[in-house]
Amino acid sequence: MYTFEINASAPKAELYAELVRAADALTGDEPDAVANMANIAALLWEYLPDVNWTGFYRVVDGELVLGPFQGKVACIRIPLGTGVCGTAAQSGETQLVADVHAFPGHIACDAISASELVVPVQRNGKVIAVIDLDSPTLNRFDAEDAKGVEILAEIIADRI
Ligand code: SME
Repeated sequence: MYTFEINASAPKAELYAELVRAADALTGDEPDAVANMANIAALLWEYLPDVNWTGFYRVVDGELVLGPFQGKVACIRIPLGTGVCGTAAQSGETQLVADVHAFPGHIACDAISASELVVPVQRNGKVIAVIDLDSPTLNRFDAEDAKGVEILAEIIADRI
């Protein structure tokens, strides 16, 4: 069993530093990509405040396919360039969306989602997956969240 001393109400920089340490410990010796994505989705779900979906979409044969996640049942396949996840995957750029209803082409998997952060996971210069976080609160995510999840994405890029 793993136990983590993670304080979900700590300042964001501290919280993400703890999450990155925990993710590193969880995935460091484990070669199975599904197991690693599943544990990271669960870690983010348990310790990030005010989220209603945390998980992965993977780039498979030129489209995004749903990976391990926590939250409501979600759409399974997303074309590159479509929605927030597809835009992040195609551009290789983090998408920080304060109001998903103002994002052209946003795909509503859970009607209560109001804001979203999507971070590409890149290996050898190619996007292999995205980490998707949804919140029921408008403007839930900021640059500190983006930075924290980007560091996490770098750490796990060779392990998923
Ligand atoms: N909202 C995403 C789709 C994935 S769900 O939020 C889990 C998008 O627009 O790409």
